[in-house]
Amino acid sequence: MAEVNVRLELEGPFATVTVDRPKSLNALDTRTLQELEKAVAELSRREQLRGVIITGAGEKAFVAGADIAEMNGMDADKARHFGALGQRVMDAIGALPVPVVAAVNGFALGGGCELALACDFIYASENARFGLPEVSLGVIPGFGGTQRLTRLVGRARAKELIFTGDMIDAAKAKQIGLVMDVVPLANLLGHARSALERIAKKGPLAVRRAKEAIDRGADLELADGLTVESKMFSDLFDSADRREGMKAFLEKRPAVFTGR
Ligand code: CAA
Repeated sequence: MAEVNVRLELEGPFATVTVDRPKSLNALDTRTLQELEKAVAELSRREQLRGVIITGAGEKAFVAGADIAEMNGMDADKARHFGALGQRVMDAIGALPVPVVAAVNGFALGGGCELALACDFIYASENARFGLPEVSLGVIPGFGGTQRLTRLVGRARAKELIFTGDMIDAAKAKQIGLVMDVVPLANLLGHARSALERIAKKGPLAVRRAKEAIDRGADLELADGLTVESKMFSDLFDSADRREGMKAFLEKRPAVFTGR
């Protein structure tokens, strides 16, 4: 039977995507990226989905990067295709309409750090290590790292990490705003799941629109971002969820949202 490098588990409205390629510390080769792409496409078709966790198998690595053994045989043309595939997968993760949390359970280096950065936010276990060590290999991050890290932590921090290729621990990653929370490894998936459960109690349409407004606005001038927000804010007033949410508040009871 063919080995599977990406596992997709569905449990009620939540999904967990696990990169599972232990012999290479879950490194992303072409095949693993294709499996990830397929899993994300499958998730994008699920209308009842409320949240996704992305993690790595085992206790050592989230994802230790793009596969160096495979990249070693590439010329510029092959690397262009490989980079395009990696960027496409990261973009597809970012474009999922529901919250996507990275549960970083060990090394998140190079393409692994870029995979975490493609998620909406990152929780890390105490043993997690982050870095973009591509310059040590004579290249630069190619799955979005130069762009997404910079947008998240600012230009100077991104330059320091990418120029030095230094690895940082989870506490430092939290300090610079790359990671939201650091928890013991045994609690990591539960911590991520608990955030998704809290979010799933809120109006699902509102959560989707909030994600869209934040992501679309991040690449716009403030005035244009405010226009996006204003349209989404007002459109939501015609939804059943908005009526229920406000009515429930006034009636001092929990809201029962339907996602419409
Ligand atoms: N690609 C391919 N194989 C990898 C790998 C990777 N990115 N990372 C680890 N492995 C393999 C190792 O070659 C080793 O295989 P063998 O047992 O067959 O020798 C196995 O996983 C275990 O790794 P180590 O023996 O090296 O484990 P360690 O505990 O000594 O070190 C580590 C762990 C610090 C994570 C080290 O493996 C390492 O530095 N890995 C490479 C990290 C890296 O440079 N990532 C960036 C890749 S470039 C990139 O991602 C480009 C991009 O942006 C698209």
